[in-house]
Amino acid sequence: MPQIIAVLDFGSQYTQVIARRLRECQVYSKVYRYDTPASTLKEDGVNGIILSGGPSSVFADTAPMPDKNLFDLGVPVLGICYGLQLIGYLLGGSVAKSTEREYGRGTLTIKAKSPLFEGVPEEIKVWNSHGDKMTALPEGFEAVARTENSDFAAIENAERRIWGLQFHPEVFHSEKGTEIIRNFLFNICNCKGDWTMRGYIESALERIRKTVGDSKVILGLSGGVDSSVAAALIHKAIGEQLTCVFVDNGLLRKNEVEAVEKLFGDNFHMNLVVSHSADLFLDRLKGVTDPERKRKIIGNTFVDVFEEEVEKIGTVDFLAQGTIYPDIIESVPIGGNPAALIKSHHNVGGLPERMKLKILEPLDQLFKDEVRKLGEELGLPKSVVWRQPFPGPGLAVRVITDITPERLEILREADAILIEEMKNADLYYKVWQSFAVFLPLQTVGVMGDERTYDFVIALRIVESIDAMTADWAQMPHELLQKISNRIINEVEGVNRVVLDISSKPPSTIEWE
Ligand code: XMP
Repeated sequence: MPQIIAVLDFGSQYTQVIARRLRECQVYSKVYRYDTPASTLKEDGVNGIILSGGPSSVFADTAPMPDKNLFDLGVPVLGICYGLQLIGYLLGGSVAKSTEREYGRGTLTIKAKSPLFEGVPEEIKVWNSHGDKMTALPEGFEAVARTENSDFAAIENAERRIWGLQFHPEVFHSEKGTEIIRNFLFNICNCKGDWTMRGYIESALERIRKTVGDSKVILGLSGGVDSSVAAALIHKAIGEQLTCVFVDNGLLRKNEVEAVEKLFGDNFHMNLVVSHSADLFLDRLKGVTDPERKRKIIGNTFVDVFEEEVEKIGTVDFLAQGTIYPDIIESVPIGGNPAALIKSHHNVGGLPERMKLKILEPLDQLFKDEVRKLGEELGLPKSVVWRQPFPGPGLAVRVITDITPERLEILREADAILIEEMKNADLYYKVWQSFAVFLPLQTVGVMGDERTYDFVIALRIVESIDAMTADWAQMPHELLQKISNRIINEVEGVNRVVLDISSKPPSTIEWE
């Protein structure tokens, strides 16, 4: 087992960023709920503890509080932002209540020698985002750095091995943030940097083989990054014992079925079952315009088809899924009822319960960037590993009306042109998503000498970090011109192309 650093989550939007930064330093990190008992952390053998930031005030009735015993475990603790205020509040310092948050850049001046700041210049720009402020140190602590607004921007108790930072070293706006984190890991926690993809693959293969034994495993392959990487990893571990089921629901993009058959069937030689179920899906979707009903029908039909395919395969014990670490990290309740905000663990729609299968989730310790790295190491092509997100209901939510084969065909052709031109311009992998949308709107045009009365295609090209927010991407006009010309000239039934220039919020990325 690799060494492990615990990141206690007090609800900061940056908790996962901290955990990822540690992994980038080749140190395994695990996110724990803020109230995890110190005894659990001890049992897990953590080598260090980071208290994340959080939106709460330490004075709030609902303020998330850690188990105070964690300060006595003898492992180094680093409190960041709210974490620093907790140190002040719980260990006998003073914290002043503030009604306003301080946002933005500040200049940090290092005043005393500290292992946390080894190799860091005396003055650096740092990123602040906090409400309450420490006003007096707890006993045994020393202030090692200050900013314009705080005398206690960095504090330390070398004897008890407790450090605190008022700013956020994990965000890119903070200069030398990675160095400070590395200092905590390697100078203070004595980490070895033993979290490597090679090591992960070896232990994952062993774990999969041990868990599965001689049993058979089934995996629903969507063609997306996570399920593809899970398939490649499990196949490497148990070969023929794995069967992948790919459901062609008739709502996929151009050539997608063939690409999956070629890659996983021909190249990887996996047992691959392709269920050609387009007719069934399109039949059930006939006349349906409501987006949520479309989603529901597609989800239910998928389960029906999948179950039928599994029955044909015979005895299967495990259902493998491409669940990744962010899917299972529980979001921390802030302010309200703890239970209310906790994410449900798996988004599998009750499939395993119904099918009485055991679950195999070999990616459940990995962040998305690690899944991509793993995919590359396993020999998956860029087109799969760096694929843009594609919604489960596929093109159904991009035909903004009821779905017919003709409308799907128009959309598929227009979308293929958009993808091809984005790739030619070397922009496809640089944006979050770029896709076409079919609008159920006929407008007048003129082609040659003839009047046309055809449909409209909208282009949706967005930039985003996590799909929670998104901006429409600024594309070169020549590229837009080329895409528009090609779609109107090459796709029968389209005489107008428009560009979606809405950001999220208030719009969403998909139109439905
Ligand atoms: P929105 O449209 O909500 O999309 O801004 C955010 C991200 O989620 C994808 N998306 C879906 N993915 N099933 C999925 O698996 C869905 O029903 C679904 N709807 C939206 C969308 O492509 C974007 O990346």
